[in-house]
Amino acid sequence: MAHDPVSAGDGAEDALAASRRESSRTEGFPTVGVLGGGQLGRMLALAGLRLGLRVRFFRDDDSGPTEGVAESVEGTWDDADALRRFVSGCDVVTLENEWQDLRTLVQVLPPGVALWPSRQTMRWVGDKIAQKQRAEALGLPVGPYRACDSLAALEQAAAALGLPVVIKRPRQSYDGYGNATAHDAAELRAAYAKLAEGDGRVLVEAFVPFVRELAVMVARRPGGQDVAYPVATTIQREHRCAAVEVPARILPAVAEQATALARRAAAAYGCVGVVGVELFELPDGQLLLNEIAPRPHNTGHYTIEGCVTSQFENHLRAVLDWPLGDPSLVRPAAVMVNVLGHREGPASAATLPAVLALPGVAVHVYGKRRVRPGRKMGHVTVLDDSVEAARARAEAAAAQLEL
Ligand SMILES: Nc1ncnc2c1ncn2[C@@H]1O[C@H](COP(=O)(O)OP(=O)(O)OP(=O)(O)O)[C@@H](O)[C@H]1O
Ligand SMILES: [Mg+2]
Repeated sequence: MAHDPVSAGDGAEDALAASRRESSRTEGFPTVGVLGGGQLGRMLALAGLRLGLRVRFFRDDDSGPTEGVAESVEGTWDDADALRRFVSGCDVVTLENEWQDLRTLVQVLPPGVALWPSRQTMRWVGDKIAQKQRAEALGLPVGPYRACDSLAALEQAAAALGLPVVIKRPRQSYDGYGNATAHDAAELRAAYAKLAEGDGRVLVEAFVPFVRELAVMVARRPGGQDVAYPVATTIQREHRCAAVEVPARILPAVAEQATALARRAAAAYGCVGVVGVELFELPDGQLLLNEIAPRPHNTGHYTIEGCVTSQFENHLRAVLDWPLGDPSLVRPAAVMVNVLGHREGPASAATLPAVLALPGVAVHVYGKRRVRPGRKMGHVTVLDDSVEAARARAEAAAAQLEL
């Protein structure tokens, strides 16, 4: 599939890449290139290694999570030589976060090497304004919003939408780092100063009075075949995912509607791989699309122990155009609780043994070297006969784990 785009002169690199490519072809075990080096990449690689795949990362820092898990090429997103070394020998390239600049990568991507999610999907999804506009254009239900390019435009939009509003940086925002809720004019100005892009753009949304937040993971192949995971309830604190309960305790009709909407959303953006679809449930049971993420997602971590096939394995199967695995739960209930940092400094395993002594608690540590308040350092998952029981045990375990 891949032809070698590395220029002559990189002799040693060439030979290495050629041998990797040769062995991956002859044995039939593909090499999957992953853009990014965070915890999602780490868990993706662990799922890939189990299937005998070769996994290679491209990352722009040495933050730790993918260290020692698989080979990696380091460079910046505009470093054509480094990106060429990375793609040489890859059978497919995918990503683990949606904020990378793909312009140089697509220029060096050899013909026949797929990039999933596609460039087109990333154009629609990689900017929160473009994402909302696409959803609206395709008739997916979204809450009232405005795209603004100045403080004056934001003030006008907030007046039209009615306070409070939620202001979002269009790019590079995740885990709530790019969001703020404004209740008055002063908060609106402060949010604009903090969140506006270089060109002055922000997205502003009416505050949605949801009763619950739901998430559905969908895995989708290039031909459009898909599987949907059970509907999850997600609990956010400070705009950041704190816990995930599965199955969501909702009416069957709402669950059906959520699943159908998630599959429509995955198709609307042409997603290939897994996609996390975040929804708001309104008091009358109506659903609104909050946002989608075309990659493994924090709200799908429970699938590692909780489902027959994890979101990470199904992401790999989907981007390789291989048959998708069963997304059903293996026990009646699964709950995941994130383990966030509470201090600044080097990460520590001091509390890990005590948590490992708790029965039936699956502990995941992301390998980040430094802890910061609010930083996602790991998570725990507990399976049980009821969501209540699993939640209580998972919360207790996470509270004891100080990484
Ligand atoms: N319009 C809104 N009305 C009410 N709450 C909102 C709204 N938009 C976002 N939120 C709250 O903030 C959370 C994070 O928002 P959003 O998903 O847009 O940001 P994010 O930084 O991409 O988050 P993440 O990376 O955790 O998915 C939502 O899950 C929800 O709890
Ligand atoms: Mg979100």
